Amino acid sequence: MKTLNDFLRMKKDGEKIVMLTAYDYPSARLAEEAGVDVVLVGDSLGMVVLGYDSTVPVTMADMIHHSRAVRRGAGKTFVVTDMPFLSYQISPAQALENAGRLVQEGGCEAVKVEGGEEIAAQVRALTRAGIPVCAHVGLTPQSATALSGYKVQGRTAEAANKLLRDALALEEAGAFMIVLECIPVQVAQLVTGRLSIPTIGIGAGAACDGQVLVWHDTLGMFDRFTPKFVKKFETLGVKAKDAVGAYAREVREGTFPGPEHTFTMNEAELKRIYGDG
Ligand code: KIV
Repeated sequence: MKTLNDFLRMKKDGEKIVMLTAYDYPSARLAEEAGVDVVLVGDSLGMVVLGYDSTVPVTMADMIHHSRAVRRGAGKTFVVTDMPFLSYQISPAQALENAGRLVQEGGCEAVKVEGGEEIAAQVRALTRAGIPVCAHVGLTPQSATALSGYKVQGRTAEAANKLLRDALALEEAGAFMIVLECIPVQVAQLVTGRLSIPTIGIGAGAACDGQVLVWHDTLGMFDRFTPKFVKKFETLGVKAKDAVGAYAREVREGTFPGPEHTFTMNEAELKRIYGDG
């Protein structure tokens, strides 16, 4: 399993960090077997797994439940679990109590929180308690309504400077890694160059120290909307629908199950039931 020191070294050596979300046992197993460096149990599960319109309804119970499944599937991979909406914003004490539950009950190595300078006190409290924190700035989906939607952030000099100030404050508070979501590549490059902790981009261009994508986007399993920054590396949604269609057809036609899927009894036992007649 990678450690915090490994992530720092990877940044120094220019070795890209691969992060991918996973939400259950099979996806976590596949991510680990494919050699992903960090599995993120993202609260995006609210949208891609639970079918909500945003990440806001996701609860602590949801995050613990999915985190435990991911832990079972990826026992040798560094797992970061998202702190859900309003589980940390209220106070450092609230953040500590809930982060503690995610680590103890969910089994993750670290937690992720969305926000800038305004949550630096929370990041400091968690770090001091020995809970590694991954920060998340730029487009922060938990506050998408306040940001007037899922839009590119940091496009003006003022907004870019604020983003840099936020990132520096979070690093100073103890964050070991920071996700930069949906910002211009030049801003991501500036922030990445100014921080000593690794930046992980999603919609932030190739200059970041690593990249993260959502499982269902990567595999083409979510078609409600596709942001510009998503690359679908497969079309599993289409393939799954075709496979389920084929199953339904064969059941209806009576061609499944075939002899190769069927158990039989030997003649002697059959005779004991039916006799010789
Ligand atoms: O919830 C999530 O999956 C995330 C990633 C998109 C970074 O926060």
